Amino acid sequence: MNTRVSSPILSMTDVTKVYRSGDSLLGASGSRVVALDRISLDINAGEIFGLVGESGSGKTTASRLIVGLETPDDGRIRFDGKDIVGLKGRARREFTRQVQVIFQDPYQSLNAHLSIFDAVCEPLVIHGIGDRASRRTRVCEALETAELTPPEVYLNRYPHQLSGGQRQRVAIARAMILEPRFLIADEPTSMLDASISFQIFRLLHRLRETFGVTMLFITHSLAAARNLCDRVGVIYRGRLVELGTARETIMHPRHPYTKALLDAHPRYGGSNHHGFGTLLDVERPRPETDHCLFYPRCRLAVENTCNLQAPKMKNLDAAHRVSCFLF
Ligand SMILES: Nc1ncnc2c1ncn2[C@@H]1O[C@H](COP(=O)(O)OP(=O)(O)O)[C@@H](O)[C@H]1O
Ligand SMILES: [Mg+2]
Repeated sequence: MNTRVSSPILSMTDVTKVYRSGDSLLGASGSRVVALDRISLDINAGEIFGLVGESGSGKTTASRLIVGLETPDDGRIRFDGKDIVGLKGRARREFTRQVQVIFQDPYQSLNAHLSIFDAVCEPLVIHGIGDRASRRTRVCEALETAELTPPEVYLNRYPHQLSGGQRQRVAIARAMILEPRFLIADEPTSMLDASISFQIFRLLHRLRETFGVTMLFITHSLAAARNLCDRVGVIYRGRLVELGTARETIMHPRHPYTKALLDAHPRYGGSNHHGFGTLLDVERPRPETDHCLFYPRCRLAVENTCNLQAPKMKNLDAAHRVSCFLF
């Protein structure tokens, strides 16, 4: 547990993002997906915060909103107390230097036609930092930071000549070369096997220890979050359902969805049976009115409550919050 945790560096307040697909010029409206639904959370300077949820729960949408690739339909996102939506000119450039992201698939951040040197150097070029000689030094340092040593071996290679784990390390070097204050890692190891994933977790942890970089670690696995994170937020269909320290949330999960996620994981759920079975064990019809979004799948749902209104976040103690009528 990181004890240096202090004030929030990133705040999301009631952030909502709706995607409309298939809207036609003739006025016929397409389908509407609420990817994030009034999400509020603070990430403190120096901590590793885990955002955990199944595929499609809105995790990548959150990361795209934070880096400014999308704008929220409602709510506010603040970095260092300043609204990121309105940032312009110099303030926006400074923000894009300070907030970096690595994706699940390193090919998303690495251009197949650029050598490793050019790929890692590119952010320096974009931000007009350094000259030829100093850039080469910084690229080598960044590769060393990502534990690609000796760095000279990698400079003239291309992404396809590296292993998946090495490619993700190059993406990390590219993200770290600008000395960001905030790093988003969006399922960085979901395409890697378990032992390589573990090495990447160790590297991310070391980056926080060495550089004090704040991290948003996005994962579908509570076990991965337990390894790496100080605090976690559990998200279900765009709504935050539980928030707490990683230890407390995983050892003593409160929300039925968090328990179900843990049950799906043998090491945490199997030996200490919560009785929630697999996530899809229960499937009730979805109510027409506002309701707890987990109601259709929840074994503990209370009729005439959970199907009639949406629960609000409640404080269980100073650090642990849950959005469920059972509390
Ligand atoms: N550009 C888009 N257009 C329409 N729907 C989208 C778009 N991006 C994401 N979605 C939808 O928003 C929801 C959340 O997606 P996403 O944030 O990618 O989830 P996750 O990263 O947790 O898997 C999903 O239902 C997804 O289909
Ligand atoms: Mg995603």
